[in-house]
Amino acid sequence: MAKILVTGGAGYIGSHTVVELIAAGCEVVIIDNLSNASRKVLERLQELTGAEIPFYRADIRDRDALTGIFKKEEIESVIHFAGLKAVGESVEKPWEYYDNNITGTLTLIDVMRKHGVKNIIFSSSATVYGDPAFVPITEECPKGTCTNPYGWTKSMLEQILMDIYTADNEWNVVLLRYFNPIGAHKSGRIGENPNGIPNNLMPYITQVAVGKLQKLRVFGNDYPTHDGTGVRDYIHVLDLAAGHVKALSKLSPGSGLNIYNLGTGKGYSVLDIVKSFEVATGNEIPYEIAPRREGDIATCYCSPKKAKEELGWVAQYGIRDMCEDSWNWQSHNPNGYH
Ligand code: NAD
Ligand code: WQD
Repeated sequence: MAKILVTGGAGYIGSHTVVELIAAGCEVVIIDNLSNASRKVLERLQELTGAEIPFYRADIRDRDALTGIFKKEEIESVIHFAGLKAVGESVEKPWEYYDNNITGTLTLIDVMRKHGVKNIIFSSSATVYGDPAFVPITEECPKGTCTNPYGWTKSMLEQILMDIYTADNEWNVVLLRYFNPIGAHKSGRIGENPNGIPNNLMPYITQVAVGKLQKLRVFGNDYPTHDGTGVRDYIHVLDLAAGHVKALSKLSPGSGLNIYNLGTGKGYSVLDIVKSFEVATGNEIPYEIAPRREGDIATCYCSPKKAKEELGWVAQYGIRDMCEDSWNWQSHNPNGYH
């Protein structure tokens, strides 16, 4: 049976997607260099799926390792999550980000085409819209100016994949622009496992709740939003994972290039999230108002209409599930996978 190669499959979104893929009857092979993931994920994936999933600890910049995998496994499609993703770190280490994300993807695509594999789903991000020209953001919204090297890697890789498709229409390319993924698998066995102090809102909140951090700093309360704090489109990671399974339908011959937003279409402010988390979990989250964070925008939420119409995908989970499941994961794994 033809297999799906999942790059970065030991990571947060990749691991949840692997569970959904196996539930949908797909055969999966994982490659991950474990630069931002734990080996324990693989045991837990086996526990959750009952499947022995072939795993290669390798870097996508390693051409020989990739070639070995494509020779050994019968890969039909690639879902490409592998990449570095910390916005602040990317400002300090631009070379490392461009090398990992861009060199890595170029190497992957080259090895794919040499083996006649021309189907790819790529993890893109709402960050490519920059400060969006309008909300709700549709896929027609022009791409914007990114505020950090991480964002540029996503924007540039989208362009690279579009150009590859233009030059060779045998490729089927799906660009999925994720909004703000949070939540975790219902079992509490896999979830987000940030290194050090989290940059993102939800893992920060759950670490306050579990007592690892003292209080949340709310970055700015003078944005033009309903309560002055930043508004985002949070989406349950399980919905995101399901979106990848649906997107496989756009890897059939002649599908070409397709771009989809994956979000719920609803915007919640930082304080809305704090309140929802408190109500859903019974934890109090102390916070203080801090200055705006550089590079942040006021409001970002999408129109998920295109994914509904063309993929039949609609987010199932609301903010309560997102908060409960983030907490379920954090409270059962206070130190993540460590
Ligand atoms: P993650 O860090 O948990 O997962 C990425 C995985 O890729 C990690 O397991 C890491 O070890 C692996 N990896 C990194 N570089 C590699 C390389 N050179 N070779 C092999 N493996 C490598 O991140 P995530 O949150 O699961 O994100 C997955 C993808 O989705 C990333 O491309 C990210 O940029 C994108 N994305 C994430 C978000 C988000 O908020 N989490 C939003 C939009 C887009
Ligand atoms: C959400 C809101 C913050 C932390 C980032 C990347 C983006 C994408 C998703 C990958 C904002 C506020 C946060 C805190 C706070 N990743 N906040 N205190 O910035 O929307 O998006 O992750 O592609 O590219 O930029 O997500 O979770 O960091 O912030 O007040 O300690 O929470 O200011 O309004 P963001 P986030």
